[in-house]
Order: sequence, then structure tokens, then C-alpha cells
Amino acid sequence: MEYVKLNNGVEMPILGFGVYQIPASDTKKCVMDAINVGFRAIDTAQSYFNEAEVGDAIKESSIPREEFFITTKVWIDNYGYEKCKASVEESLKKLKTDYIDLVLLHQPFSNYYGAYRALEDLYEEGKIRAIGVSNFYPDRLTDMCLFGRKVVPAVNQVETNPLNAQFKAQENMEKYGVHIEAWAPFGEGKNNMFSNPTLVEIGKKYNKSAAQVILRWLIQRGVIIACKSTHIERMEENFNVFDFELSSEDMDAIKALDTSDSLFFNHQDPNMVEWFDKMVYERRDK
Ligand SMILES: NC(=O)c1ccc[n+]([C@@H]2O[C@H](COP(=O)([O-])OP(=O)(O)OC[C@H]3O[C@@H](n4cnc5c(N)ncnc54)[C@H](OP(=O)(O)O)[C@@H]3O)[C@@H](O)[C@H]2O)c1
Repeated sequence: MEYVKLNNGVEMPILGFGVYQIPASDTKKCVMDAINVGFRAIDTAQSYFNEAEVGDAIKESSIPREEFFITTKVWIDNYGYEKCKASVEESLKKLKTDYIDLVLLHQPFSNYYGAYRALEDLYEEGKIRAIGVSNFYPDRLTDMCLFGRKVVPAVNQVETNPLNAQFKAQENMEKYGVHIEAWAPFGEGKNNMFSNPTLVEIGKKYNKSAAQVILRWLIQRGVIIACKSTHIERMEENFNVFDFELSSEDMDAIKALDTSDSLFFNHQDPNMVEWFDKMVYERRDK
């Protein structure tokens, strides 16, 4: 495993396992499989409703807690200072741990400044080793870095894959000492990502799959990754990306696939803000 040093000196595995859209009933088994494959960084969120099962898998693995790097994210409905603080205490209980390695604000909506203040205080109390944000586009991130904080976000987790490569956003993050982390590194397979001819052809040279080429390309760009699979053979495939190196020509060929457009949605679209608002109310009843 390779590690990335965050802006506060904390080391984070560059490749992690994400549990978005894994039902709570399957999460413990999937995380145990991922741990057996070798993953030690696990990415969950309050809004995935599976933090407790992640905690169960880690506890039952009998691997020392300090070998893991656990990330969770605070949901919009828990923003504001007091609610955020209480929600992280709840996450600590569910994850069955005394500290969380990284806590991110999940979305750039509602009172995220109040929530960020709570994360700063929890960080100073030692309950969180690093704090950051997610889905903050360059304007929001710059605002946060310049006006908003005592502690500069260590990480900004954003959609990053060959079709939405985030080169400019990464440059902006690096300017402020924020590390980029990829969600949906495979774009969840949209646009035939796993059979993209460029990725498949490059893979043939190294005897690797398109998925492995994508992960290697991100690693060589210094992008931290959260990737998800419910199949152990795919977890193995995704973990097996440290024994080859893409040439600069191959890196450039993948760079040329970038459309600079999301495969999912744009957080700056007012219709999406309305969609998130609706989701907040729907999730309240869960
Ligand atoms: N911060 C945010 O707003 C945000 C948003 C989305 C995701 N995330 C985080 O990022 C993680 C990854 O993103 P994601 O889950 O949306 O998408 P992803 O990792 O890009 O793609 C997951 C999909 O790819 C399939 N897959 C995985 N490895 C494969 C392989 N080697 N060959 C073929 N298919 C493969 C999986 O299928 P199977 O599961 O059937 O194997 C699943 O359908 C999430 O789990 C979550 O932790 C964060």
C-alpha cells in the first residue's frame, strides 16, 4: 500500500474501500472481505446507514484499530455546530471506536460553516485525526480555505474518473494544501467505463483490466481513492494495482478522455439543490 501525507502530517492509504449503496445487511460481510483482501481504509457516511456494520467488521477482524483508516461524512441534516457535534458522537458509537481518522462534510449545502466549526473542535479534542469536505467545487473550497477556517480541510472528496478527471479542481486544491480524493473512480460503470477501448487497450500492455488501469492512473496522479465492489474477486482485482506503472504516453491518452463533466449531476444546478433538500426530508424518517 502507498500512503499520502495529509496537510497535518497524518498518513492516509491512497486506496480505500467505499460502502455507498451496500445495504446494511451486506455491509459487514463486504467489509470483512475487503479487509481480508488487504484494504485498511474504509469510506462510509452517516447517510449510507451502514456505519454500525462497518464498525462490526472492523471489531471482528481482530486487527488493531490503528491499522485502519476510517472515514465518515456528516449528513446535511446534521449541519450547524451542535447537531454536527452530536452526530459525530453518534458515528463514534456506531463505528465502535474512540476516534475517527477522517470526517468530511458530505455536501456544500445548508449551515456547513457551523458544522465545520464543530469538526475543528472535535479535531482539537483528538476525536478526529483529520477533517475535510466533499463535493466542494473550486469556488466553495476556496471560500472555505480563505475565510472559513482555523483548520484547513485535509481532503476534498469529489467525483473523479477518466471522464470527469478534475485536473483544474485538483490544481486548486493543491494550491491550498487540500488533498483530492476520488469518489466513483469507475463512474459506477456509466458510459461503458469498464469496456472503454482506450482503457482496455492500455490494460492489455500490462496484463491489467480497465478498472486496474483507472486506479493506477489515479494513484500516479496522487489522487486518494474510495472504490466499491460487493464481489471479492473484484476487490482483489482493485487492490492489485501496485505492481505496474503506466507510461507518460498512457497517462496522456487517459487524460484525453476527460470531458470535464459529471457522469452524475452538477452540485451547482439549482434543481439538484432542490433534490438534496427533498432527500434530507426523506432520510429524516429512515
Ligand atoms: N462523497 C460523495 O458524495 C460520494 C458519492 C459517491 C460515492 N462515494 C464514495 O466513493 C465510493 C466509490 O464510489 P461508487 O461506489 O459510487 O462507484 P465506483 O466505485 O466508481 O463503482 C462501483 C461500481 O463498479 C463495480 N465494480 C467495482 N469494481 C469493479 C471491477 N473491477 N470490474 C467491474 N465492475 C466493478 C461495482 O459493482 P459490484 O459492487 O457489483 O462489484 C459497482 O457497481 C463509494 O462507495 C463511497 O464510499 C462518495
